[in-house]
Amino acid sequence: MENNKSGFDTRAVHAGDFKDQFGAVVTPIYQTSTFEFRNAEHGARLFAGEEEGFIYTRIGNPTIRSLEKKLAALENGTDAIAFASGMGAVSALFASFLGQGDHIISTAAVYGPSRGILESYFSRFGVAATFIDTSDPFAVERAIANNTKLIYIETPTNPTIKLTDIEQVAAIAHQYGIPVAVDNTFSSPVLQNPLDLGADIVLHSLTKFINGHADVVGGALIVKDEETYKRLHKTMAYFGANMDPHQAYLVYRGAKTLSLRVLKAQENAITIARWLEEHPKVEWVRYPGLESHPQYELAQRQMRGPGSMMSFGVKGGLQAGKKLMDSVQLAKLAVSLGGVETLIQHPASMTHAGLTPEARAQAGITDELIRFSVGIEDVEDILADLEQALEKI
Ligand SMILES: Cc1ncc(COP(=O)(O)O)c(C=O)c1O
Repeated sequence: MENNKSGFDTRAVHAGDFKDQFGAVVTPIYQTSTFEFRNAEHGARLFAGEEEGFIYTRIGNPTIRSLEKKLAALENGTDAIAFASGMGAVSALFASFLGQGDHIISTAAVYGPSRGILESYFSRFGVAATFIDTSDPFAVERAIANNTKLIYIETPTNPTIKLTDIEQVAAIAHQYGIPVAVDNTFSSPVLQNPLDLGADIVLHSLTKFINGHADVVGGALIVKDEETYKRLHKTMAYFGANMDPHQAYLVYRGAKTLSLRVLKAQENAITIARWLEEHPKVEWVRYPGLESHPQYELAQRQMRGPGSMMSFGVKGGLQAGKKLMDSVQLAKLAVSLGGVETLIQHPASMTHAGLTPEARAQAGITDELIRFSVGIEDVEDILADLEQALEKI
């Protein structure tokens, strides 16, 4: 039986397993919307929280719970809440911590829609947001106001691959009693555990590395304490942002091979980043595993590895970049990331097109920036694909 002291892979395989009466080795899919009470007293006790059990799938379900326990074990948290999508998790986080007159500080280059919901929706309910370069911890301290209720950082950022020092930001925030939430999607718990670095809440788009097979959309929040769990869980259930049991099963299955996939993709990415950096048609490469990354030292300290996400620009700017994206054959021109397959995309016209040009400029999302999510294919094949596409420019 695994426990908190078991190794990462042991927890990935076993944590959260739900034992049924038939001895099923994997958690079954409890495809049911509701659960029968033994009697009226039992139903009342479940609703009052006096007994553990399941009531209704929007509130909880054994398959979803199994996944949540696995996620908590992988992020060294005490509990987790699964959501229908990463954005469902982001929305519930903001709705739980922010109200009329409150203020949030966030990374300027945070995932586009995470910024978008603050600017377009929460602003309508009197929530102010300040977006700054959180890689400068002093800028974080300067942005703190009396009404700041949450600091929400993403590191490394999508798609600019900028890092924020989690330990330093958490230390500053806690001096003012402000909780810190970290979007850990880009690293996955294999490479970085924000709770261990002082953060209070971790967010994941499960759609990415944790599921890893580009066939499910999902999200999660992982917490350290029971009180935060209850607060976030209530928002999830009231807003109906719950995961579906079948969806939960697929992520639970994908998560078992998380480190095998993340480490293989990372090995490929290190080779590819070095190769791109030397390529005469490539202008620049941003990857935390390269000494040329401005925060290479922080990456070494904070992450257990540089991961498999990078961005780069080719000589000739946007037009040359479009030619490259239209010429790749193995890499797929598609958004999302962290799957077994290599994906390429253009954030300024795709994932971050919804941001204003000013917000994109502030975040450093230039027009020529190409985002590359390295998969687990044979590295020689990815390199050959890039070479033939670069030749066409
Ligand atoms: C860093 C990051 N956070 C959050 C999200 C949102 O997740 P989802 O697409 O699962 O809603 C994404 C999606 O691309 C992302 O890249």
